Amino acid sequence: GDVAVLVPAAGAGVRLGAGGPKALRQLGGEPMLVHTIRRVAAAPSVRTIVVAAPPLDVEAVHALLAPVAPVLVVPGGAERQESVAAALAAVPVGPEIILVHDAARALAPPSLVESVAAAVRAGSDAVIPVLPVVDTVKEVDGDGFVLGTVDRATLRAVQTPQGFRRSVLAAAHASAAASLTDDAGLVEKLGVRVTCVPGHEHALKITRPFDLAIAELLLERPA
Ligand code: C5P
Repeated sequence: GDVAVLVPAAGAGVRLGAGGPKALRQLGGEPMLVHTIRRVAAAPSVRTIVVAAPPLDVEAVHALLAPVAPVLVVPGGAERQESVAAALAAVPVGPEIILVHDAARALAPPSLVESVAAAVRAGSDAVIPVLPVVDTVKEVDGDGFVLGTVDRATLRAVQTPQGFRRSVLAAAHASAAASLTDDAGLVEKLGVRVTCVPGHEHALKITRPFDLAIAELLLERPA
């Protein structure tokens, strides 16, 4: 394997309702993060996995994941971007392809990890998995009035894992000023071309109680 996967898992999960850090919420009788790591570790290209955990849970997360796969666990930060930077700093010398994968996309299949890694290996500096947008999308103002309609055909919903040549991700994080919600956004600011590959419906981000219910159903009927 020539790939390291960074898994930011330090989010509070406020939108899922009360119950502690999101990555440790139960899905099909196991913490969400266990599902995520099991699928990442099943991808043949993956050599190294670094998880950014809530600072108070680093030991517990390591104990939880050790039976699943060999992982490094580091304390995450207050923002996702800080958690990714902390995980990136812990990657040993070796892997030249780095994937960044939300812990909350617990059912992203190993095949998606492989296809993103393969696109970087084939020469892309930055790769994101995307799906078409099915709903019509409007831009609205702060009062809820419509400002305009965006052409849906040009829009994509972006998932993780996102893949990067190591030097490109390191440069993006080194020069990061504003906080962004994904790593490709930082790379775009450097003027690096970002390549799209097909995403996977099972890679949905488990954010709200409805998503958790969908994920429970998908577990009963695997990809
Ligand atoms: O909040 P959001 O859904 O965008 O979080 C995406 C991922 O980033 C989750 O896996 C979450 O655990 C992680 N995260 C983190 N550190 C934070 C905030 C979010 O690792 N401070």
